Amino acid sequence: MSRLDDLAITLQRAVWQRRVRSWEHDASPGLARVVAAVLEHADLRADHHVVDLGCGSGQVTLPAAQIARHVHGVDISPAMVTRLLERASHEGLTNVTAEARPLERLALAPHSVDVIVSNYVLHHLSDRAKAELVRRARQWLKPGGRLVIGDMMLGRGHSAEDRAIIAAKVRAFARRGPAGYWRIAKNFVRYLARLQEKPISRDRWVRLLLEAGFLEVTVVPVVAEAAVVLGTAPR
Ligand SMILES: C[S@@+](CC[C@H](N)C(=O)[O-])C[C@H]1O[C@@H](n2cnc3c(N)ncnc32)[C@H](O)[C@@H]1O
Repeated sequence: MSRLDDLAITLQRAVWQRRVRSWEHDASPGLARVVAAVLEHADLRADHHVVDLGCGSGQVTLPAAQIARHVHGVDISPAMVTRLLERASHEGLTNVTAEARPLERLALAPHSVDVIVSNYVLHHLSDRAKAELVRRARQWLKPGGRLVIGDMMLGRGHSAEDRAIIAAKVRAFARRGPAGYWRIAKNFVRYLARLQEKPISRDRWVRLLLEAGFLEVTVVPVVAEAAVVLGTAPR
């Protein structure tokens, strides 16, 4: 990894160390729909070992742990991991473990996981890191295991689909008046500079999973720019 990658990880950790409470309190109904879609497509069973990439304070980990045998959360932010473990203990869940680690440096045993889930995280990774993580996820999964990624999926405005999503967002923010105009400006700069958020389109996600050797790759639109992409490791 380059020094630039190290710097990006340090910045990302600093941002999320401060966002535990605001992330929990400001969660939108749209996000709840994406969490529900990730869980639905994960198709969890009682004997499953699950890993949640970028677990935050447990939005996917905790409901998954109600079903699966064991869920391991991984997050760059130690504060998020602490909060997740507090919530798990509060809910009496003894099958949740977690580690504070950037996904770019995660190592798991080959063929050790039944289902890998991730929600609204991977747009924070560089495109190279996304591709590398999907390749490694295939190695970590048992044969027939499943990768389920929910995220904002949006390209750089080259396709009609991207342009329709962007136009709908701009219209929705503009309806909010001056506060909305500020959000348009802020998101426009972020989107162009690809500083904190680096989403890629649904088609690119499908290609990444296929290139990594996943089978039955499917993309499911959820709401606005949010979608779920999933694939199965070969048996
Ligand atoms: C938008 S929140 C989503 C949290 C949770 N998955 C959910 O569904 O609410 C993004 C999470 O990704 C984590 N994150 C961002 N970059 C990361 C990285 N490179 N490695 C691991 N976690 C990362 C942040 O700390 C944060 O908890």
